[in-house]
Amino acid sequence: MRVFLTGGAGYIGSHTLLEVLSQDHQVCVYDDFSNSEPEALKRVAKLTNRSFDTVEGDVLDRAKIQQSLIDFKPDVVVHFAGKKAVGESTEKPLMYYRNNVDGTLALLEGMEAAGCKRIVFSSSATVYGEPHYLPYDEHHPLAPTNPYGMTKYMVELILKDWCASNVKNTAVLLRYFNPVGAHESGEIGEDPNDIPNNLMPFVSQVAVGRREKLSVFGGDYETHDGTGVRDYIHVVDLAKAHAAAIQFADGHSGCEAINVGSGQGSSVLDLVEAFKSASGRDIPYEVVARRAGDIAEFYADPTKADKILGWKTERNLSDMCKSAWNWQSRNPKGYNSIK
Ligand code: NAD
Ligand code: UD1
Repeated sequence: MRVFLTGGAGYIGSHTLLEVLSQDHQVCVYDDFSNSEPEALKRVAKLTNRSFDTVEGDVLDRAKIQQSLIDFKPDVVVHFAGKKAVGESTEKPLMYYRNNVDGTLALLEGMEAAGCKRIVFSSSATVYGEPHYLPYDEHHPLAPTNPYGMTKYMVELILKDWCASNVKNTAVLLRYFNPVGAHESGEIGEDPNDIPNNLMPFVSQVAVGRREKLSVFGGDYETHDGTGVRDYIHVVDLAKAHAAAIQFADGHSGCEAINVGSGQGSSVLDLVEAFKSASGRDIPYEVVARRAGDIAEFYADPTKADKILGWKTERNLSDMCKSAWNWQSRNPKGYNSIK
């Protein structure tokens, strides 16, 4: 198939690119490198020994995205391009709505011009908001609590209407839980620009000596050890979920929302212990106040993914930590380590 990846140079995009190339699809990556490095693409090309098209462009550039889609003639688009920092979205909501919502509209308009009827969309478990019950299944009410989550929810609604407008249109909404880890080669991985907001990159940077200690946000939650519980998913398993969604989209039409998680909850301290074993390094930490907006515990019911995509996670927390450490220790400053 011909697969068009927006945001294909980013963390999840580059791992999916590698997976899709290894399945012999023809690929075009469309990315403005606003939160990624071209080096990631070079490394994927080397690891797979495959070439692919790359367009440096913004999805908001309507003329460019449309022409790129017309030129490449994709069978399916996988749409990763988006901004993802929750805190920043509360400070700059308009930028988030513009990039994530208007960016998707520009993409869909371009797809219509190019005759492409299938899209796999990077949604997030954040669309569920506070849990009414656990685990979250896909019928759980949607009530995002921040502008970033709202952009994901709005795009889901747009894609639902887009599918309803033409029986041939297909959208697979992948609601990711907490993606972590890196490819086993240690050549590609998560490379946050600034101080990491998320747990695993922060822990990795403590282990490698870039940060002094981890602040554990809250030790008094009603969880097995008092710290927050999440459903961590290995980014390689997530990449494989995209490959399965691409196959699914080829044979189906309509709009399907699918949880992409393991179904297992792990606490902050579970992850710290697993990382210590994986790295052989100490992870000094201090328990501090809760982070505003955090939920005590959330994890997926991943049954639907297994049922309709034939996909489930194969890698555990130890694999996630080992691969994150392999990437971090080989690239202490991320892709900039080579400069
Ligand atoms: P990332 O920032 O590493 O990747 C996003 C890519 O999109 C980057 O390469 C960036 O340069 C590009 N991009 C952003 N805006 C663009 C634009 N207007 N035009 C062209 N390219 C643009 O993020 P990621 O972690 O790989 O996430 C990918 C997608 O998955 C995002 O939509 C994100 O919201 C979603 N998601 C991520 C997580 C997570 O924890 N990483 C969880 C749930 C959902
Ligand atoms: C965050 C985003 C969410 C996004 C998800 C996956 C928020 C409020 N939510 O969720 O929208 O989909 O990432 O990328 O930002 N923790 C610490 N110390 C740290 C960092 C985190 O103790 O320095 C704790 C948190 O309190 C939480 C757990 O670690 O209990 C995981 O945090 P994080 O990696 O930021 O993910 P989420 O909060 O689940």
